[in-house]
Amino acid sequence: MTLVNEKARILANACVGPRLWLMELEAPAIAATVEPGQFVHMRVPLMPERILRRPFSIYARDVQAGTVEVLYQVVGAGTDHMTTLREDLACELMGPVGRGWQPPASARRALLVGGGVGAAPLFMLAEQLVGAGVRTDVVLGAQTESALACRGRYEELLATGASCGCAGARCATDDGSFGRAGFCTSLVEEALAEADAAGEPYDYVAVCGPEPLMRIVAGMAAQSGVPCEVSMEKRMACGIGACLSCVVDTRAGKKRSCVDGPVFPAEELMW
Ligand SMILES: Cc1cc2nc3c(=O)[nH]c(=O)nc-3n(C[C@H](O)[C@H](O)[C@H](O)COP(=O)(O)OP(=O)(O)OC[C@H]3O[C@@H](n4cnc5c(N)ncnc54)[C@H](O)[C@@H]3O)c2cc1C
Ligand code: FES
Repeated sequence: MTLVNEKARILANACVGPRLWLMELEAPAIAATVEPGQFVHMRVPLMPERILRRPFSIYARDVQAGTVEVLYQVVGAGTDHMTTLREDLACELMGPVGRGWQPPASARRALLVGGGVGAAPLFMLAEQLVGAGVRTDVVLGAQTESALACRGRYEELLATGASCGCAGARCATDDGSFGRAGFCTSLVEEALAEADAAGEPYDYVAVCGPEPLMRIVAGMAAQSGVPCEVSMEKRMACGIGACLSCVVDTRAGKKRSCVDGPVFPAEELMW
């Protein structure tokens, strides 16, 4: 995989939920090579006073059209400024960066868990698994119904996998405005138990979202004896493995989440 620095033209940048924006960019080189779970390091244009790039996972790509999409949440100066960027502006993207999801080749049934904006880095993985005929279940959690910004795409994708046993996404919202009221961890617990009871246990769990959610889901997967991967969101500066600002403690020592991750096998992490 080759890392490129691509001048990507912004094709669209629209608000799709509370503090949630979807940006589509023309980036044919990155679109052609990005793997599920990898990210781009973006130099936010027209913001010269802030030189650090911002890391964003690729939510979706279209190889034919040469485009990628990033779903971003407004949390600080950089992401706030991104909402002002208009179509046709060029944006420097370095990517694709990092180790993405690596489901076992033998996986027959997978459970993907996305909390908040963490649903986005799992979508290409879901496409890969459903495309390979893996029975894939999806649990999504968010604060409100309107924050479940990826739900429509997941539902469309899972409908294409109905013949392999894929069912609709299970959702939870903190305020009960859609699906189960409360945290999505109860849905994960149920999904694991139901799969075991049906004699069709999961053989892969992938989770992305706030760290407490990932820790709980990783614990549940471990208790059920299912291999689990998590995507770590550490603050990053260089994005190429040089500055050590993004290290995580693992059983094999310190690892850089920009190049050794962001996806790690959960059992390797010392949380
Ligand atoms: C591998 C990876 C993938 C990510 N994918 C997404 C995504 O798909 N959608 C999304 O909304 N967010 C994603 N994030 C988080 C996103 O990078 C931060 O929310 C964003 O950088 C915040 O920038 P800011 O200028 O608004 O915030 P500020 O707090 O003003 O940022 C200041 C500095 O800290 C860094 N920083 C701040 N928060 C984070 C963070 N959580 N992770 C890494 N660096 C941070 C920024 O890059 C910047 O250099 C991802 C983070 C990582 C590490
Ligand atoms: S961000 Fe510099 S080593 Fe990871």
